Formats: sequence, structure tokens, C-alpha cells
Amino acid sequence: ALISLRQLLDHAAEHGYGVPAFNVNNLEQIHAIMQGAEALDSPVILQASAGARKYAGEPYLRHMVLAAVESHPQIPVVLHQDHGASPAVCQQSIRSGFSSVMMDGSLEPDQKTPASYDYNVWVTRRVVDMAHAVGVSVEGELGCLGSLETGQAGEEDGVGAAGALSHEMLLTDPRQAKDFVERTGVDALAIAIGTSHGAYKFSREPTGDILDIDRIRAIHAVIPDTHLVMHGSSSVPQEWLAVIREYGGEIPETYGVPVEEIRRGIANGVRKVNIDTDIRLAMTAAMRRSLATDRADFDPRKALKAATAAARSVCEARFEAFGSAGRA
Ligand code: G3H
Ligand code: 13P
Ligand code: NA
Ligand code: ZN
Repeated sequence: ALISLRQLLDHAAEHGYGVPAFNVNNLEQIHAIMQGAEALDSPVILQASAGARKYAGEPYLRHMVLAAVESHPQIPVVLHQDHGASPAVCQQSIRSGFSSVMMDGSLEPDQKTPASYDYNVWVTRRVVDMAHAVGVSVEGELGCLGSLETGQAGEEDGVGAAGALSHEMLLTDPRQAKDFVERTGVDALAIAIGTSHGAYKFSREPTGDILDIDRIRAIHAVIPDTHLVMHGSSSVPQEWLAVIREYGGEIPETYGVPVEEIRRGIANGVRKVNIDTDIRLAMTAAMRRSLATDRADFDPRKALKAATAAARSVCEARFEAFGSAGRA
């Protein structure tokens, strides 16, 4: 059944687990996530970005998710809008049946320019008023995602702030988080704690103190009823990078957030864990291998099936690691 983010994350908080929120754009990604969820008895969050809605078309996306719900009646599904740029965008998604929306007021509507705190409070409050009236949950964001090493948002394909970010903007302030939640009434809050979007998060292998755990704990302590969200949570699996390179892909050395670090985040209050890049990498690797290996084949379903299986394996590993397996 389609449920709200608030319903799902309240359960996750009560039982101390985290839920991966996977970005979806097409049939194969939705298949992969739902097959994995069914196999491991996990609830799921399917999230669609503006880019996803543009790629698939809003009605296609909506109907594919409805098909997922119909095909897996036992699995709780949240349909969440990722990084809403304005109240108008959120309103559209609410109208089209999303059970949760993110208003990303940490950036202006261009989703490039860091926004003022007052702007963030104002737009987020507007979305909460609109969404809560019809039982839809709201995720806000406080702080800007980016690399603590370089001060850059780090997203190669244009997601996130442009230009350099100050150290202060890269880490969410617990006192401001408390004020923000009091003034907006959000159900979930995305916080900046050391992660960034995309495949190029860290240029060296992380040693194990990637996340600012003390800060997660401090924020969780002051807003215990607001569910913490970690964006930029892909682990950038080295084994899939190796397959991409083996079959002609060109991806320079790069590292993501180790799954073990995410588990520490969950143990300290993180509940929603956003993952897009890992599924992209696994699918691309599997498609490259399939097309290169079965050279006489021209049925695209073969490569797409391999991609689905690869994505499913990523999803299953995350359901297990984050503790959502067995919770459906
Ligand atoms: O946060 C961004 C997600 O990775 C979505 O990326 O805008 O390319 O769909 P996208
Ligand atoms: P990754 O790029 O690390 O997968 O993060 C995705 C994300 O945060 C979507 O909102
Ligand atoms: Na989101
Ligand atoms: Zn994000």
C-alpha cells in the first residue's frame, strides 16, 4: 500500500532501523527495488527527482509506481518527490498522488544559489501547510551538501549548489535545526554532515570518519521527533566500477560513503538514506558487460534484465545493512 513518509519513518524510529530512498526513473529501476523488497520483506521509498519526471513523464512515473503497489500488496511504499525547487513543484506532485514531498529551500528555485534562512523557513512552511492538509509528509533541508575537502557541491551533472560553499554552510547547526523545525513543522529534515551528491565524493579511500557523528547525535537530541535524512549516501561500489572499466567505461578513481559509516549514522538517528548513484553504476556496469559479452544478441531485454538484477543486488544489500529487511 502507498503510505506517507511520516508513517514509515515513525515505525523505523520506533524499531531503530533506516530506510534507503532510491531514485527511480524507469521500469527497470522500479522492478529492481520492488523485487528486492519482496524478497527481503522490506518497506521502500521510491523517490523521483525533477529530472526523473522530465525523463519518464509524470503520468508514466505515477502509473508505474501504482503498478508496483498493485503487484506487491504486502510492501509499504512511499512515493516521494526528491528536491522540490518551489512550493509550486510540490503542489503539482501532491496533486499527482505523491505521499511525500521534499521542499529543498536550502537553495533558491534555481537549485544552485544557497538561499537565506528566512526564505527557507518561508517556503518550507508554505509546503507543510499545503501538504499536511491532505496527509502528505514533508522533508525540508537545512545546510548545503558539499565536500568538506573542497567546499564544492561535487555533483558533476548539475545537482546542488554552484561555486564554493563555506564550512559553516556544509554542516547543519543543531540550534538552527531546532528553530527550523519549530517554525516549519517538517516531518523529516535533510542535514549536511559531510556527504555530497554524485559519484565523486572522495578522491581517497575513506578511513572511517566521513560522517560528523557528533553532529548527527546533537541534532537528533534537539529534534527527536523529526526524522533525519542523509542525502548523497551512495557507497560507490568498487566492484561495479571495476566492471565498468573492464568493459570500456572511463571512471576515474573515486570513493563513496562506506556502508558501515551509514550504519553508524542510523544508530545515531538517521532514518532516510538517499541513494541514486549506486544504482546508476551497477546498471551501467551490467549493461556494458551484457552488450560486450553477448555480441550477437540484439534483444535489449537481455541487457536490461542484467541491469535490473545488478540494481536489485544493490537494493538487497542496503535493505539488509540498514535494518529495513523483515520490517514490511
Ligand atoms: O539528488 C539528486 C539525484 O541524484 C537525482 O538526480 O536530477 O539527475 O535525476 P537527477
Ligand atoms: P547519491 O548521489 O549519493 O546517490 O545521492 C542521491 C541523493 O541524495 C538524491 O537526493
Ligand atoms: Na529527498
Ligand atoms: Zn539529494
